[in-house]
Amino acid sequence: MADAKTGLYGLIGFPARHSLSPAMHNAAFKALGINAVYLAFEVHPDKLGEAIGGVRALGISGLNVTMPYKEAVVRFLNSLSGDSEEIGSVNTVVNRNGRLEGHTTDGIGARRALERAVELGDRRILILGAGGAGKAIAHELAKDNEVVVLNRTPEKARALERFGVTGDSLNRANLVKYIEWAEILINATSVGMNSWETPVSGEMLNEKLVVMDIIYKPLKTRLLSEAELRGCRTVDGLWMLVYQGIESFRLWTGLEPDENLMRGAVLEGLGQ
Ligand SMILES: NC(=O)c1ccc[n+]([C@@H]2O[C@H](COP(=O)([O-])OP(=O)(O)OC[C@H]3O[C@@H](n4cnc5c(N)ncnc54)[C@H](OP(=O)(O)O)[C@@H]3O)[C@@H](O)[C@H]2O)c1
Repeated sequence: MADAKTGLYGLIGFPARHSLSPAMHNAAFKALGINAVYLAFEVHPDKLGEAIGGVRALGISGLNVTMPYKEAVVRFLNSLSGDSEEIGSVNTVVNRNGRLEGHTTDGIGARRALERAVELGDRRILILGAGGAGKAIAHELAKDNEVVVLNRTPEKARALERFGVTGDSLNRANLVKYIEWAEILINATSVGMNSWETPVSGEMLNEKLVVMDIIYKPLKTRLLSEAELRGCRTVDGLWMLVYQGIESFRLWTGLEPDENLMRGAVLEGLGQ
């Protein structure tokens, strides 16, 4: 039951009403006995600055930031974490007595999801896609591993070479070459989202690959289905969603919620 001491958290985006984050974070607050609520705020593009002013004025404790504001929000904040500064993107805001800190948890969320299936060690990683998510994941994984990023628009993949990755064009010849080279394959394109498309045809996969798709609608994408048929270990996109949420929650509260509880709440939200 909300009262005068209830802490307020939320998500800003446009659109925002489809988000699964409220289900996930409210379940965690409840399970941990924290007096707080998490809401979704659909902020119109010309109101972003006012919305962030409102966070300060109302003392909203923390935010997630989603499309299309992960980069635009940066200029309204007081400080950025090292990772956020390097990729120029924020998905989590922590309000410390009116000073707003920007963080990014997408990269670490993807790392933790992958680590469910494989110890990263010095494994070679191929990432498809250099959009917002691909960039954050490439930046994080290139800290310790060799990473190649292929993207339909090759300039965006090459722009990530500043993080020490190799960037190139997403075409059949490069897929054949780098799938042979890689031990881990991550789809960070939107190909396969709400459709039965795949960025890599099944016959190109081999059983030595660990395959992660960051898409979670559908939960089992065509890429993951075909990877399973080939005998690959697979990781679905819901795990990345859950772990980026857990990392945000930890930044706000210092506590680590239960991953299965968070995943269960999201699955319920997805109607599964
Ligand atoms: N699991 C999670 O927690 C999580 C988090 C974030 C995002 N996601 C999912 O990840 C996907 C990407 O999100 P994002 O934020 O990175 O989006 P984004 O910034 O719009 O990037 C989209 C990426 O997909 C590529 N792409 C789109 N259509 C393509 C096509 N027909 N052929 C080849 N490449 C194509 C784009 O290539 P170009 O650069 O050439 O356009 C770009 O690399 C979405 O499905 C999103 O739902 C999941």
